[in-house]
Amino acid sequence: MIQGRPSTARAGRRGAESTLLRTLWKSPSARRRDAHRPGTSILEVSGLTVRYDGRLALDDVSFQLKAGELVAVVGPNAGGKSTLFKVIAGVLQPSQGQIHVYGHEPGGHICIAYVPQRSQVDWTFPANVADVVMMGRIGRMGLLGWPQSRDWEMVRGSIEVVGLAELARRPIDQLSGGQQQRMFIARALAQEAELMLMDEPLTGLDVTSQQDILAILGQLRERGVTVMVAMHDLKLAAERFDRVMLLKRRLLAMGSSEQVFTPDRLVEAYGGHLRLVQAGEEMLAVSDTCCEEGAEPGERLA
Ligand SMILES: Nc1ncnc2c1ncn2[C@@H]1O[C@H](COP(=O)(O)OP(=O)(O)OP(=O)(O)O)[C@@H](O)[C@H]1O
Ligand SMILES: [Mg+2]
Repeated sequence: MIQGRPSTARAGRRGAESTLLRTLWKSPSARRRDAHRPGTSILEVSGLTVRYDGRLALDDVSFQLKAGELVAVVGPNAGGKSTLFKVIAGVLQPSQGQIHVYGHEPGGHICIAYVPQRSQVDWTFPANVADVVMMGRIGRMGLLGWPQSRDWEMVRGSIEVVGLAELARRPIDQLSGGQQQRMFIARALAQEAELMLMDEPLTGLDVTSQQDILAILGQLRERGVTVMVAMHDLKLAAERFDRVMLLKRRLLAMGSSEQVFTPDRLVEAYGGHLRLVQAGEEMLAVSDTCCEEGAEPGERLA
């Protein structure tokens, strides 16, 4: 049974300037709730442009998501995937364009859960699994912000769904990569998120852990949660996701993997880093574009 005040509150009072704390406390779960506007899409992005110090990271990106779909966001390094997620999550302001989540600006929405790229999280922050999952409840707690029994029930139930019940009290710096990702999924479940943005949750995981995460994402879809996953594995993107978005500063294509992964588009996205090899009836896409951690040079595209 998980009970008691989250130790993150104590740690926060210690004044730890932690990336994890900043990312999670300031994430949309800590913000106000807005009612969904009837007839609006879960996510509508139009003319989104982001510049860092004048340099374009995203250029006029527009798309819409349907509720409950599982979307893979692929593209080369520096293609703008993380930037896109940060803007949708409301932690980064766009230079131009609009984002609406059920008709509202992203900052107003409790229903978005954002899981940053692993390298952007300070894993030494003194918190355990239950603490981080409880952070998902912050936006739903009452004025006093004190966890009630329903909050603890949601935390416990979410941790069970992702198979981490035995590790609920384990410090987050003692988790494997796959367990860390499952913890963040539990946090999104506890938050009762409707749109989940996961930045490279599969990178650096072994095949079994990847399959575990994908199975849990499938369960989220069954609950009607819309999930966007940034990733580098084109084969997994093609096989396990409803739609694929190919991003290289501009949105090169979005649709089924057959529509998106055409030789022309892949060459446009990956340029000299991607070699296309005809193998019987199949096209083999051999990529030497590199992921941050544990990259496998080469991806098979059925
Ligand atoms: N805070 C920042 N300040 C300045 N430039 C930035 C910042 N964050 C990202 N960029 C630049 O914006 C571009 C897009 O970066 P982004 O991290 O969104 O790409 P990505 O597709 O997520 O890449 P990766 O696959 O390597 O994670 C890159 O050229 C990057 O150097
Ligand atoms: Mg990134």
